[in-house]
Amino acid sequence: MRRTAQALLAGLLGAGLIAAGAGAGPADAQAPRALDRLDLKIGKALFDRAWVVPPASTKADDGLGPLFDARACVSCHPRDGRSPVSAGAGGVLEGRGPVLVLGQPDGAGDPVYGRRLQIDAVPGLTPEGILAVADTPTGDDRIARRPAPVELAYGPLAPATGMSLRTAPDLRGRGLIEQVSEETVAAVAAAQPEALRGRIRHVPLPGGGTAMGRYGWKAAQPSLEGQISEAFFLDMGLSTTLHPEPWGDCTVAQSACRSAPQGREVEGEVEIADVLLSRVVAYVASLPVPAAAENPAGARLFAATGCAQCHQPALPMRDGGQARLFTDLLLHDLGPDLADTLEAPDARPAEWRTAPLAGLSDALARKTGLLHDGRARTVEDAIAWHGGQADAVRRKFLALSARDRAALVAYVSGL
Ligand code: HEC
Ligand code: HEC
Repeated sequence: MRRTAQALLAGLLGAGLIAAGAGAGPADAQAPRALDRLDLKIGKALFDRAWVVPPASTKADDGLGPLFDARACVSCHPRDGRSPVSAGAGGVLEGRGPVLVLGQPDGAGDPVYGRRLQIDAVPGLTPEGILAVADTPTGDDRIARRPAPVELAYGPLAPATGMSLRTAPDLRGRGLIEQVSEETVAAVAAAQPEALRGRIRHVPLPGGGTAMGRYGWKAAQPSLEGQISEAFFLDMGLSTTLHPEPWGDCTVAQSACRSAPQGREVEGEVEIADVLLSRVVAYVASLPVPAAAENPAGARLFAATGCAQCHQPALPMRDGGQARLFTDLLLHDLGPDLADTLEAPDARPAEWRTAPLAGLSDALARKTGLLHDGRARTVEDAIAWHGGQADAVRRKFLALSARDRAALVAYVSGL
């Protein structure tokens, strides 16, 4: 094991973070069961951990930045859940969670800003900008939203750069997405009516070849490992085996950023060693699907109206179980009103992965906002934004009696 990773693990154990409450101290770490539990505790400690700017007195915790969006996974995924998107004065987004993804049609990031607009930086370096939105009332009690970042520190974005504002999703139960085979998802697509048939996104793998995209609002990541490595790298500026560059998202155009101190001790060593990454992956994979309220009448309406065509209540998994997440893992074109401006080689601006609805009750209770950029305040509001392939189902929903509409919304709100 590499020295820094070893020091960090020892630190976590020593600080009692692991032993406390787990009932599994280092002593019973020998038994396989206890070891699993210990791994999850370590994973949670790393998920909650606020990384610090290098060089720090404890070498094991540093490496954050030079540019970053947040110091910890938990800052953006509070209680393993979804981040609120709240726009304050001037549309400036408060708190941590939403990120601004930047990209060009060939798949590259912005030549200066890279693949994210980072809103924070190590001391001495200017953050790239401030995240803000321009909200416009639609006239029917909804707001249209587009990203409008301010105080861009390195000049304007390149003309070909597109923007996509995305909120941090709920993580509970999302580990199950890896257990659904591509064949299963292809069969779901084949069974969908032509008018709303989704498509599997194939994404390039670091070692060559492609795989089915599963994670993120546009299914851009094939695995939890890929998604979480990218979060360490782009959102926190911490290197991993998949993303070994210690400067994170600093581009060659950002020279001060490239030469800022790094957390890496030895050439060739990454800031987040595999032993640490695998524990964070195991922790996220262990989070159970949130319990849904019993509502058979609502479930029938959800299916009869056509919502369940895309928001599949359950997908069979390889081990025989069911992933009850309310998604088909497919990309659908939801029409121009929901489109971002990011044209990617394998996902169009109007295409989104069917959002898993499991855990929605928590998002509603915490008023996080719904849809990829948090623009919708209620379930009705979110449905009203469904255009494109979902347009006919939206109309069918509107044609229901007021009573049935309320029953359907109550069902979705209880997930
Ligand atoms: C700055 C905020 C931020 C931080 C820090 C962050 N995330 Fe996220 N996370 C997001 C956003 C935004 C998305 C959606 C990304 C997209 O669609 O492109 C996301 C998506 C995910 C997903 C995919 C969920 C799904 O349904 O597809 C997982 C898993 C995840 N994050 C885990 C983590 C872990 C683990 C960490 C810490 C290593 C972390 N995140 C750190 C903001 C953050
Ligand atoms: C053609 C496929 C499709 C159909 C049909 C469909 N949806 Fe969706 N739904 C999506 C996609 C894709 C998203 C993500 C859109 C985005 O965030 O921009 C979504 C998002 C949502 C959200 C927001 C979830 C979140 O996490 O913010 C809710 C709520 C929702 N749908 C409910 C419904 C209901 C209720 C119906 C039936 C009246 C329905 N949907 C029909 C594809 C569909």
